[in-house]
Amino acid sequence: MSTSGGSPDAPDSRHHPPLPPVRVERRAVSEAESRQANGPDWDRYADEYQATHGEFLGDVGFVWGPEGFTEAEAGILGEVEGRDVLEVGSGAGQCSRWVRARGGRAIGLDLSLRQLQHSRRIDEATGVVVPSVRATATALPFRDASFDVVFSSFGALQFISDLEVAVAETARVLRPGGRYAFSITHPTRWMFADDPGEEGLVASQSYWDRTPYVEVDDASGEVSYVEHHRTLGDWVAVLAGAGFVITDLLEPEWPAGHDRVWGGWSEVRGRLTPGTAIFGATRA
Ligand SMILES: C[S@@+](CC[C@H](N)C(=O)[O-])C[C@H]1O[C@@H](n2cnc3c(N)ncnc32)[C@H](O)[C@@H]1O
Repeated sequence: MSTSGGSPDAPDSRHHPPLPPVRVERRAVSEAESRQANGPDWDRYADEYQATHGEFLGDVGFVWGPEGFTEAEAGILGEVEGRDVLEVGSGAGQCSRWVRARGGRAIGLDLSLRQLQHSRRIDEATGVVVPSVRATATALPFRDASFDVVFSSFGALQFISDLEVAVAETARVLRPGGRYAFSITHPTRWMFADDPGEEGLVASQSYWDRTPYVEVDDASGEVSYVEHHRTLGDWVAVLAGAGFVITDLLEPEWPAGHDRVWGGWSEVRGRLTPGTAIFGATRA
């Protein structure tokens, strides 16, 4: 999601750091390159992200996306009390703190040290502590069958190249019958410019073009931010291929009177097009 209004070519990345000056490309990019770019990018952006969105997220709150749709409304994780829960791409741990407050043993995992420092800050402020680890979604540092629930609220998945590896890792650490749920930018948004206004309602890019969105640092020539697109069918195939049974695909509607603009998410677009997709699945 772009905080700056975004490039006309950009998809709805969840953020768009203002520095360094970048040029936008669509091109293939490896998992290593994605990670090398996105870790430091989230470190740079974390302070602004938390300052801008922290109040909306709530220190002990669980929203699935910019529509403000909450897990209390969705109930997609099922019962969390007494369950072992992993949040992948946990940021400052707001969602995991909500799970903890309901008796779940939630653990956070994130690539960005600065995001995890914000998580620690909020732990101390609230007294609801989320044990967290710095790691990547494609190599989860846990034993097989360690968790009853794994979830991501806009965390990690659209930032990684090796999605099959990340989903297989999730299946590995889940117990049989365990729940998996995650939210992502709704794949149809990749057809539109990353613009919260009327421009963002005009389809100008192919839905089927999976070429990653890449920002390249003008000064160094290095990749500084990457986002990956998959179609709805791709997500279904990846989940089924890892042995998940898909139970839910939620597409939260824009609530009446909700006038918050978050990057490319806005009332103008939200009244007409879905901005967030939430998948729910069970491990066979
Ligand atoms: C949009 S934020 C979402 C954070 C939190 N769930 C929230 O709603 O605020 C995306 C998070 O994914 C993390 N992330 C990106 N790539 C990752 C990876 N490969 N493994 C784990 N976390 C990653 C980022 O560091 C960032 O904290």
